[in-house]
Amino acid sequence: MKPEAPIPLPRDHIPPHLRREIATLLIGEWQLRHRIERLARRIERDHRNRDLVVVSLLTGTVMFIADLLRHLNLPLRLDFIGVSSYGSATRPGELVYTKELRLDVKGRDVLLVDDILDTGRTLEAVTKRLAALRPRSLRSCVLLDKPSRRERDVRADYVGFEIPDEFVVGYGLDYAERYRNLPFIGVLKPGVYSEE
Ligand code: PRP
Repeated sequence: MKPEAPIPLPRDHIPPHLRREIATLLIGEWQLRHRIERLARRIERDHRNRDLVVVSLLTGTVMFIADLLRHLNLPLRLDFIGVSSYGSATRPGELVYTKELRLDVKGRDVLLVDDILDTGRTLEAVTKRLAALRPRSLRSCVLLDKPSRRERDVRADYVGFEIPDEFVVGYGLDYAERYRNLPFIGVLKPGVYSEE
């Protein structure tokens, strides 16, 4: 299943109060919904009659996981791992775990969900951590993939969109903990993060 390309919307779709901060509306609500429904269909097909545990990474997946789950028509359990990379906004640093897994995944089929695959450090580290718990299978699903920034040899099994190397926010993704509540994915103007 090849990742979809974003279809940027005209500038007048950006709410007026955000036009000073958001340069481009990269992926709108309709495209997000449509693509997530298709991801859910594929995940369903691959996990029928399996003992599925969905493990979602905090905090960036907050909107994606809610929308993905409501389209997954199969029995599953849900858990979260809290993990953050503490560095500057544009340069990732050390990974810090803020919440550990609670469910037992041994012998079960795990779907690891993240909002964005960037350098690959997070997905690589969490995959290793989960693999050590000996699940029956372990697949990963990311909404966004930014392959141009990759530092680790990792790939996700399910990818929503492949995006260029731009600073994206919204739909769960933040800059300095802001913008997570935007219902779309937008490109932040460089002036916003270079000023602070
Ligand atoms: C972001 C994002 C991914 C990770 C991807 O998390 O949610 O988990 O970075 O980057 P990588 O591929 O370079 O590791 P962040 O640490 O910003 O925490 P957050 O989800 O709380 O925003």
